[in-house]
Amino acid sequence: LSPELARAEALIREIANYPSPGILFRDITPLLGDAGALRATVDALIEPFNGLFDVVAGLEARGFLLASAAAYASGTGLMPIRKAGKLPRPAASVGYKLEYGTAEVEAHDDFAPGTRVLLIDDVLATGGTLAAAHELVERLGYVAAGTSVLFEIDGLGGRETVADASLHTVFRS
Ligand code: PRP
Ligand code: MG
Repeated sequence: LSPELARAEALIREIANYPSPGILFRDITPLLGDAGALRATVDALIEPFNGLFDVVAGLEARGFLLASAAAYASGTGLMPIRKAGKLPRPAASVGYKLEYGTAEVEAHDDFAPGTRVLLIDDVLATGGTLAAAHELVERLGYVAAGTSVLFEIDGLGGRETVADASLHTVFRS
């Protein structure tokens, strides 16, 4: 890690037992609030994929915080992947499992078939969210050009579930 990225990593705050007992929550708000850390992490998210994507897809909600900056920094557009019920005219929906219950991601189909999409989220845990996002991208007729995540939590099988050889994570536990 570069000194700037090491400093950024130190700005990720660990909150024990949030949102439920036994969970160690990674709070990235101190990192987002630091100009140098924000720039270094957004640059690190897109760097391996330079020139390989046409649009950045951000995962609601925390993925939006990074994906919009990544789209701006790379001179591409932004594709919001939203949770169910937020878009006026979703073209596709994909369900996924949570610890308790299920959720769904949705998106519009405003890009041309074959558009190369870089998927970005803040945290990779079980991988359910990103696996659903991948399926959504495929169903819309786009091509997943890569997956980039700020923080990978080891030991939950997320990397295997996402099953994208290009998966890039800036920090990991
Ligand atoms: C969190 C996190 C990732 C996802 C990772 O989002 O931001 O998107 O969980 O978990 P997984 O790998 O097990 O799917 P969450 O849906 O909790 O809420 P958010 O709207 O705050 O991003
Ligand atoms: Mg999220």
